[in-house]
Amino acid sequence: MRNKIVVIGSLNYDTFVQLPHFPKPGENVLADGVAFGCGGKGANQAVQAAKLGVDAYMVGCVGNDQYGDALIESAQKYGLNTDHIRRVDAPTGMGFVNVIEDGSVFAGILKGANFEVTKEDVDQAEALLMQASTVILQMEIPQDVNEYAIEKAKECGAKVIMNAAPAAPISEKALKSLDILVVNEVEAGFYLGKDITDSELAKAGAKELKERYGCDVIITLGKLGSVVNDQNEINFIPSKKVKAVETTGAGDSFIGGVGYALLQGMSLTAACEFATCCSAITVCGVGAQNSMPTFNQVKKFIENN
Ligand code: RIB
Repeated sequence: MRNKIVVIGSLNYDTFVQLPHFPKPGENVLADGVAFGCGGKGANQAVQAAKLGVDAYMVGCVGNDQYGDALIESAQKYGLNTDHIRRVDAPTGMGFVNVIEDGSVFAGILKGANFEVTKEDVDQAEALLMQASTVILQMEIPQDVNEYAIEKAKECGAKVIMNAAPAAPISEKALKSLDILVVNEVEAGFYLGKDITDSELAKAGAKELKERYGCDVIITLGKLGSVVNDQNEINFIPSKKVKAVETTGAGDSFIGGVGYALLQGMSLTAACEFATCCSAITVCGVGAQNSMPTFNQVKKFIENN
């Protein structure tokens, strides 16, 4: 039975700096605090799936440094298989995340070892891809490797979820091979060539992307919720009201949650509802992986909300 999730993507060591407000260009702002955590869109999505109980595997690269050690240790602690994480002679990817009081963030990301991931790394994982139900990709590794991974995953019979973040050009052929495209409102705006500022525009955008590429489409809208184009229905799923502390990893928690829920046989809409609860819990703590919930935490949250 195909029951594995394989994530091919980035691992970053994140530094969170607490600022009173986002600086203007040229302005220095005194920071009130600092925290560190394991992140990277790929590793976050894989860890969320693993924390929920999925047999999850990570394919990617970290450097031969203390940050690479920390990322591998963290992934293993959460039950993620790290056999396909390669150590390379480049610095481990880093996230420099600035956080303001309402929990919103802006970040600079060091590509580092993530940009050493190769097509050979994908080939090395072929046996896993043959057993994978779902392969999840993001845009923090070289784009030619991503496009190769899409092709390979499809040949191996897996479903492909692409989180096109950060947004960058993707070939039409690759987009047309996807099963599910996940973007936030900013990334959706990039692919559509127009601003997506509310749920009605997101619904129209999801419809347009589905018509263009044929895949199901999820547009996440931060604290508003998300829109999902599931087969021929377009549904809006409102977010859960929680007090956000720091939002890094919320989208990744959502995607790991979708991956888990689809494996349980849920519809895409039901999977997004489940994933909304995952990300609601994730924003209640600082950092990505350590704030992500286990299945029992999500179950409890659903009972109380
Ligand atoms: O999506 C959040 C993640 O994006 C952070 O962990 C950071 O490392 C960047 O990859």
